[in-house]
Amino acid sequence: MFWGDERRVSRCFNIADLRRVAKRRLPRVMFDYMDGGAEDEVALHGNCAGFDAWRLVPRVLVDVAEVALGTEIMGQKSTLPLVIAPTGMNRLFHYRGEMAVAPAAARAGLIYSLSSMSSFDIEAMGAATPGPKWFQIYVWKDRGIIREFIQRCRESGYHALCLTVDVPAFGKRERDLRNGMIIPPRFTPGSLLDMALHPHWWWKLITHEPMTLANVVGKAGRGLDNMTTLGQHANDQFDPSVTWDDMAWMIEEWGGPFAIKGIACAEDAVRAVETGATGIIISNHGGRQLDQAPAPIEVLPEIVNAVAGRADVILDGGVRRGSDVIKALALGAKACMIGRGYLYGLGAGGDAGVERALELFRDEIERTMKLVGCTSVAQLTPDYIRAAGG
Ligand code: GLV
Repeated sequence: MFWGDERRVSRCFNIADLRRVAKRRLPRVMFDYMDGGAEDEVALHGNCAGFDAWRLVPRVLVDVAEVALGTEIMGQKSTLPLVIAPTGMNRLFHYRGEMAVAPAAARAGLIYSLSSMSSFDIEAMGAATPGPKWFQIYVWKDRGIIREFIQRCRESGYHALCLTVDVPAFGKRERDLRNGMIIPPRFTPGSLLDMALHPHWWWKLITHEPMTLANVVGKAGRGLDNMTTLGQHANDQFDPSVTWDDMAWMIEEWGGPFAIKGIACAEDAVRAVETGATGIIISNHGGRQLDQAPAPIEVLPEIVNAVAGRADVILDGGVRRGSDVIKALALGAKACMIGRGYLYGLGAGGDAGVERALELFRDEIERTMKLVGCTSVAQLTPDYIRAAGG
């Protein structure tokens, strides 16, 4: 089984190849949930296209026999300037879900972020990986849930918290509305047809434990104890009246490294730093929330300038190539986050697919560094980049 996965993903030579295989192997509802964005998917496509507005400017005749790719992100060592982004319900894409991702991240020496909407809970994932890990959190109406999460994260050895702030309302994801996306998946005439087309996926679903939002089941209202959509859950349970005071409260409760995810402008980045954030994650939630949000790479330079070294700036959104990471670093980011970048691997081939995605990023980052003539990621500066056609 795993051997089949390995063989299949070994023929994928970039993240787009993994995406194509994932599309073939997953039921359409699951693939679209992973792949899709909000409304017209302007932000979704803009995130990737934003990188094309820049070109790398190489230095030649530099000794690049050895290039240093390691860095430190919010106080933690990483072998690459890359962080595994928090993504919900990974078991929708492969029955092993987060269990296929976190150990692969640890083997690669990368920081793993667990989503609060994950399909395995804080404790299970804490035990599953010895690697550095962050926990992503939303603001639930019931602040007791947050206190409990913080306590559980401490006990399970998580190193940082990451507060997602771009979901005051759930984005309008029209592919999911059209597909009738519901969790756990429901048996309908459409899904019965899909079963015939993707028997392996459905077989794994039926023969493994039921799919839930493991961290909140039985706690936050419906908690997906019953069938619901993630949008319904988010709109019911997340607090739309959250402000900077809530973030300050959470930083105080946690007392450790704290990133804020979903920043899109310099003004908010400065406010976040002043409120105590040690990481600024520029993100539009992979184009799944505000469809008219700018691409993270577009606003990166002004945010780096405003933060002025007071926090680590991390770029999330549209990262599909090693050269995307190098561009972000040249413009001042400390690291990039990948979400779909590894989820396509998960859908294409479980553990082997995630491993392949991380290997592709490592290879492309190293190769790009050599081609650019830069020997250490710490030495990337705006001197290595210019606007395309400018
Ligand atoms: C959850 O965060 C989602 O974007 O679906």
